[in-house]
Amino acid sequence: MKLWGGRFSKDTNELMKKFNSSFYIDKRLYKQDIKGSIAHVRMLGKVNILSTEEVDKIINGLEGILKDIEEGSLKLEGDYEDIHSFVEANLLERIGETAKKLHTSRSRNDQVAVDMKMFVKDEVFNTVFKIDNLIECLIKKGRENEYLMPGFTHLQPAQVITFRYHLMAYVEMLKRDKKRLLNALYILDESPLGSCALAGTTNEIDREFTASELGFRCITKNYLDSVSDRDYLIEILSAFSILMMHLSRLSEEIIIWTTPQFKFVTLSDEYSTGSSLMPQKKNPDSLELIRGKTGRVYGGLINILTTLKALPLAYNKDMQEDKECFFDAIDTVNICIDVMTGVIDTMKVNKEEMLKSLKKGYINATEVADYLVKKGVPFRDAHEIVGRIVLYCEKTNRAIEDLKLEELKSFSEEIEEDIYEYIEYSNILKKGNKKYILMEVE
Ligand code: ARG
Repeated sequence: MKLWGGRFSKDTNELMKKFNSSFYIDKRLYKQDIKGSIAHVRMLGKVNILSTEEVDKIINGLEGILKDIEEGSLKLEGDYEDIHSFVEANLLERIGETAKKLHTSRSRNDQVAVDMKMFVKDEVFNTVFKIDNLIECLIKKGRENEYLMPGFTHLQPAQVITFRYHLMAYVEMLKRDKKRLLNALYILDESPLGSCALAGTTNEIDREFTASELGFRCITKNYLDSVSDRDYLIEILSAFSILMMHLSRLSEEIIIWTTPQFKFVTLSDEYSTGSSLMPQKKNPDSLELIRGKTGRVYGGLINILTTLKALPLAYNKDMQEDKECFFDAIDTVNICIDVMTGVIDTMKVNKEEMLKSLKKGYINATEVADYLVKKGVPFRDAHEIVGRIVLYCEKTNRAIEDLKLEELKSFSEEIEEDIYEYIEYSNILKKGNKKYILMEVE
């Protein structure tokens, strides 16, 4: 069944039919499409465009279709142009001629716009819950492993931090990701239904009614914009891209930490794989895949941005391309968050290896300089003095705290016995604003 046969005298070319059909993708919107139609029909009854009997008949039919799809007796397959045609054709089969009244004062343009917004609302909240789980998991892992570790800049040992504090940096990123998604969900929460094709309808319909039936905050204002706005997909995909960038950075760090050169953490076998050739291998494929799939989500963002660039108002068929990349992106994001949560939850943190690594790289050198500043040495001079101490340590292959007092004194007379207490790694975090590194601040 075609929704637009009247003005055509030739049949659609077979290749064109295939090319035009979006059913294999937008069948995923069946629930939103049917719910949207039910709200629309209720509204048509309320404003007396349809009779109560007609409304009841159509709603019964639509509810039956939904039930049959969910129970599996009605398969989402066949030669349909899109999900909208599928539902209408099935309705016609079930309830007969009354089905033809469903599409009164509606176009597929506002229909697909409302369907997609409903889908995004339903699904993105689910992603937000997943982010919450990951946040909880990181907080828990951090609490259980409050060990000293070197912090890095340029991937070179820099200053002492704790493993928990490092994970908490990702908690901050994820909290921002959540805010971005919730903000996008707030902005999109306006119903476009009733905008029709691009210019509303001469019938006295009630858009506020359908908006509130479908749980929208309010209605959109401009019909042209309503049917051609896909900003919300761009916003969500951009929030997804940033989120994936965060997951990818975390993946990369954990991958580095699992190497024998670092050994800070050991991944669970559950989230690792082996090599078909090298028997000793245990590879962090879970994390590599998260890192790899990041590009795929970025691709979705660029896809939609490019599709919409220079597109004239109002609806154009180009917009049909919005779904495939969005669905792929949300599926990718969801599985990546879940896998990351599993990896973090099951990985083992190696306290001893982290402690050993504190000694590599002079990560208390800055505190030696701070110590000299306390004794009245200008910071620039202190920096120079400590630089020379580090050079000496490098030559004699020792850590700063392993030098004897006389050796230290040969660089500055200001250095006294209390230096050792001052630059001891765990003491460092008790001083100044480093205290916050040890605190749980929400
Ligand atoms: N399948 C279309 C889409 O996803 C639905 C809207 C079609 N509207 C139209 N006038 N051809 O964008």
